[in-house]
Amino acid sequence: MSTAAPVICLDGPSGVGKGTICLAIAKRLGWHILDSGSLYRITALQVSRLFPGTNVISINVQQLADIANNLSICYRCENDELSVFLNDENITQLIRGEEIGAKASQVAAIPEVRKALLDRQRAFLQPPGLIADGRDMGTVVFPDAVLKIYLTATPEERANRRYKQLKDKGIGVNLAALVEELRLRDERDMNRQAAPLRPATDAIIIDTTTLDIEQVTNEVMYWVNQRISH
Ligand code: DC
Repeated sequence: MSTAAPVICLDGPSGVGKGTICLAIAKRLGWHILDSGSLYRITALQVSRLFPGTNVISINVQQLADIANNLSICYRCENDELSVFLNDENITQLIRGEEIGAKASQVAAIPEVRKALLDRQRAFLQPPGLIADGRDMGTVVFPDAVLKIYLTATPEERANRRYKQLKDKGIGVNLAALVEELRLRDERDMNRQAAPLRPATDAIIIDTTTLDIEQVTNEVMYWVNQRISH
């Protein structure tokens, strides 16, 4: 990759806390953020709007790739929150639901969709640097990244965290259903042919099961300080 700006990749399964840690690290370093999952979620939202009630597998892959190619997206970081706009519509909350997450995981399994989103993801790399959050940041999108972190936690712990998050927002959910949903999503993301979720061979693996946000942030910052002078 012919750019002087460094990249830090933060990969890992759903609900492991990548988004929160990315924001914390980006804030400390003053770097840009790529929330690559949001691109798959926005694609899923647009697919469900253009093909309401249609199963993703019955839609022509070229049509899906065209949707991914033609998204007009804009991100704004306000009050420590990343807001997402599609054609000037604020869709931040709309794309956060479990249903869109599951659909995102389905569209993300389609190689043509992944290819359509590749350059868009790489274009986020701007000085002074980028923190990239996703599943294949270190393996496919930014293989030359200066630091690759892979966060893990047990499905039960990740479901618990999501459960608390949703409960705090006043959204009632069933914990057992969340665990099952996460297992299904892990299975699809890890076993697909195109860019499956797995740690890059040169990634540092951090098990966050028993750590809080501050502890994970500090651990990541330790590695940032080892690898990057800033
Ligand atoms: O990180 P997230 O939950 O917002 O991601 C939603 C889905 O998108 C996830 O289940 C798998 C997919 N995804 C992917 O395949 N590759 C990425 N780099 C990011 C997300």
